[in-house]
Amino acid sequence: MTKLPLASFLAVLACLTPGCHAAAAPDPLAPTGRWSANTRGQAPTPPMGWNSWNAFGAAVDETKLMASARLLVDSGLAAKGYRYVDIDDGWWLKRRMPDGRMLVRTANFPSAVTADGGTSLRPLTDRLHAMGLKAGIYSDIGRNNCSQVFGGADAPNLPEGTQAERETGLYGHVEQDIALYFREWNFDLIKVDGCGIRGLGRDNPRVKAGLYRPLGPVIDFDDLPRTDIAEVRRLYGAVADALARTRPAGDYVLSLCLWGSADVRSWGKDIGNMSRTSEDISPTWARLLHNLDTTARRALYAHPGSWNDPDMLFIGKGEFDAAHMVEARSHLALWAMLNAPLLIGMDLRQATPDQIALLGWSQAIALNQDRAGNQAVLAYDSAEVQIYVKTLADGTKAVALLNRSAAPTHATLTAEHAKLTGTIATTDLWTGKTGSFTGETTVPLAPHETVLLKLVGRHRLANGLYLSEMPGSMNPAVDGVVQPQPDPLVHRGLLPWNDTRGAGEHPRYGGWGGAAVDSGPYGQQLQAGHEKLDTGIGILAGSRLEVRNAGHARFTARVGVDDAAWGNSGAVTFLVYGDGRLLARSAPLRAGHALVPLAADVRGVQLIELVARPAQASVAPDPVVWGEAALLN
Ligand code: GLA
Repeated sequence: MTKLPLASFLAVLACLTPGCHAAAAPDPLAPTGRWSANTRGQAPTPPMGWNSWNAFGAAVDETKLMASARLLVDSGLAAKGYRYVDIDDGWWLKRRMPDGRMLVRTANFPSAVTADGGTSLRPLTDRLHAMGLKAGIYSDIGRNNCSQVFGGADAPNLPEGTQAERETGLYGHVEQDIALYFREWNFDLIKVDGCGIRGLGRDNPRVKAGLYRPLGPVIDFDDLPRTDIAEVRRLYGAVADALARTRPAGDYVLSLCLWGSADVRSWGKDIGNMSRTSEDISPTWARLLHNLDTTARRALYAHPGSWNDPDMLFIGKGEFDAAHMVEARSHLALWAMLNAPLLIGMDLRQATPDQIALLGWSQAIALNQDRAGNQAVLAYDSAEVQIYVKTLADGTKAVALLNRSAAPTHATLTAEHAKLTGTIATTDLWTGKTGSFTGETTVPLAPHETVLLKLVGRHRLANGLYLSEMPGSMNPAVDGVVQPQPDPLVHRGLLPWNDTRGAGEHPRYGGWGGAAVDSGPYGQQLQAGHEKLDTGIGILAGSRLEVRNAGHARFTARVGVDDAAWGNSGAVTFLVYGDGRLLARSAPLRAGHALVPLAADVRGVQLIELVARPAQASVAPDPVVWGEAALLN
């Protein structure tokens, strides 16, 4: 158990206030002039490819893998961007003793047999590379992997041998394994799971039976206070550092698989190229909604180089199979809009022409791969219909109208949703049908349907961009969340294998209160000084938000303490920094005060930092509003 030790926690809190002395502890709100989200590795746009897990579980082998790899190329999907071919759990045989070198299960990967009696996956990665593909491998941050921890006794391809030989995870072997996978075997991506630090406490029956050594648990999946967040971060940080050393050219992808636990929302973006936001997806509509919701309100936590990952595509199975193409299309459309990594999870040998066509939906892929890297923002939210808007690099808008329900309905899309004005030209990105509207348009939606539209029109803000239109250029370096809470807005879908046994699914995934676009941090409408706003950034007091400036001249906003504040933070001062220099500051503002204009000349500034500094430290800081925050030409 950690959290922050009490002394340093109090020091950090003290340092949120103006009287902080640098000698006491570093001031987390001091400007750094530096973008702090991850820029290492190679994920300028969300990684795309194929992964073995949803198709085969741990029963993966070379024949199955290469068949899907071949089909990626032959179907044209690789040319459309699906390049990573990732081996998930099940590839290993054991860790050789005494030198600790990992051995491949050659019964399933015959090309890994080497002349000296060892094993190597280099022939496999060479073949994938020769096909123009990239290769991904899988490991665990603990000593043991997910199948060992959570698989049944009959789980296929469990590691073999003595207890030490069965320790196939990275724990204690980071340098050795990363060098093997990335230097010798030449992989391009690694997914690092967290089961080995989650489920093998002393009480675990498999530990008690002597099958595995106890470890932690470092993560308590159901309780953040009992999770050693700093240690989890340290372990993953060591992997990131080893990768950067092993591949100094930065040609790799680090995929974090912590399912939203360990407060990974707040730090995964600083370490990895993609980071899972939820437990595993399964091929049901309810689980799609669940995984979607864990990512949907986190637009500010995704940027080129570090993406939110609501898990792999399940197109081709269950409620996304060939008989459910409406749901399958929603799946791809939503994942594309959220800048989710697009990892196909089906045996492509079974794919119908329609499924290949859907996976190759060029317009959806283009949205996903847009270089601005703006995750779609929720412009309208309800349990039934949601409207997502994504601003593309060329200033046009993509809109997803989602019917979450099983009944037909409709969505009324307004110009305001898209922050456009005047006559708006529309293209349905699936049917190709074009049209136009002024003010609003009503679109029918079949059960579970997502209609994806491209909108071209005049921007409501004629001479610049609202920050809400550029979440990919922003990073909540300090989002103000002091005590991460479970997120109550995540759909808690019935788990098919549990039915209604037990007490159901409880809220999970810390980070409730995180920085939000066009909404307060707790999902409420942005409102300050009794004025409601439809545009702005909602964040907690005690926060520092980094904004990349690509040539804009002026920053403007109307700032204030959100009307939802309890007064815990006292008066809040809003400060604007440019490359580390103070450019503008507000008077200290209290809840109820009218919004105050704040402006700064940002010509030539690369990094703007927006700081909301409270007079008073609190474990429950007040929400504040950077209303109508914009960068102007
Ligand atoms: C975890 C991950 C999955 C998959 C399995 C493999 O559950 O979340 O994506 O990698 O492990 O065992």
